[in-house]
Amino acid sequence: MTRRAVVTGVGHYLPERVVENAEFEASLDTTDDWIRSRSGIERRHFAAEGETTSDLATHAARAALQDAGITADDVDAIVLATSTADLTFPSAATMVQAALGMTKGFAFDLQAVCAGFVYALTNANALILSGQAERVLVIGAETFSRIMDWTDRSTCVLFGDGAGALVLEAQDCAGTSDDRGILSTDLNSDGRYKDLLYVDGGVSTNSTGHLRMQGNQVFRHAVEKLAGTANTALKTAGLAAGDVDWIVPHQANIRIIQGTAKKMGLSMDNVVVTVQDHGNTSAASIPLAPSVGKSRGQIKDGDLIVTEAIGGGLAWGAVVLRW
Ligand code: UT7
Repeated sequence: MTRRAVVTGVGHYLPERVVENAEFEASLDTTDDWIRSRSGIERRHFAAEGETTSDLATHAARAALQDAGITADDVDAIVLATSTADLTFPSAATMVQAALGMTKGFAFDLQAVCAGFVYALTNANALILSGQAERVLVIGAETFSRIMDWTDRSTCVLFGDGAGALVLEAQDCAGTSDDRGILSTDLNSDGRYKDLLYVDGGVSTNSTGHLRMQGNQVFRHAVEKLAGTANTALKTAGLAAGDVDWIVPHQANIRIIQGTAKKMGLSMDNVVVTVQDHGNTSAASIPLAPSVGKSRGQIKDGDLIVTEAIGGGLAWGAVVLRW
């Protein structure tokens, strides 16, 4: 028998306000056509004034708990991936813990920017495999609208706000690649690429800052590194791209998503795509996608999923799991 971390619930939350590409045409030298054709994005959600990352995360967490048929009392730990926590401290995760009425266990934030959810899944998996937790709520939640420079057309049209959550539960499995649950993980980072994607402020520099990105440089790294990490994780699990039912990619740019699928030899029919409706929601994009994909009937029990992401750091990675 092998202990595995199995997904038993999924949920998401998107703020009410939807902003179409055309809205940017009034204040920026940009067009709906440029944004659609260069990124695949058509619209995104922005949090209301006063609506925080932990608010979004709490909604998504409640939906995931309901989907799993459990309550917060059944959860041992919360791992929340975010780069846009409400406050410098305490963690947004402990705010979610309090909002859910959970008084036991532990909660913490994890920051790996757009790769955050892959890092969070890997850490939650390790907590479960080591026996420190039986059930973990893994959340990705962001309010990137708070760190946009609204005069920079090369970044502010690309990002959105949102949250997604999964419940991971320890289950005894046969120990083969037919098992449900997380089958393998692969994490990478290379800090030499800091200047390609960063926020030009922070606590230690006494400022908040705005997101800065050399988009075309990040793009150059993305397809190769994403296909590479996905194939490495598949190999670790004793599987190959041909075994994959669904790629659930980080949703930054439809051209990166298409390029990665092509490099892996997979069709776009095998990819869950939400970038057109959400934009880039950083750590929230991966958990948002299976939640939306499941409601579209795209993901079914037993499907083999590879999820992959790259972002600031650069940090990138992949997780292979059977739904
Ligand atoms: O999630 C974290 C990881 N992030 C990513 O994966 C993002 C990766 N990068 C990308 O998705 C793409 O590079 C972008 C969508 C950001 C940009 O697409 P691109 O095809 O790489 O365009 P570019 O940056 O090379 O810019 C092409 C032109 C430039 O004009 P010139 O220098 O050719 O005259 C830009 O100034 O497009 C211009 N441009 C715009 N034009 C209209 C940049 N932003 C805009 C805009 N509207 N919003």
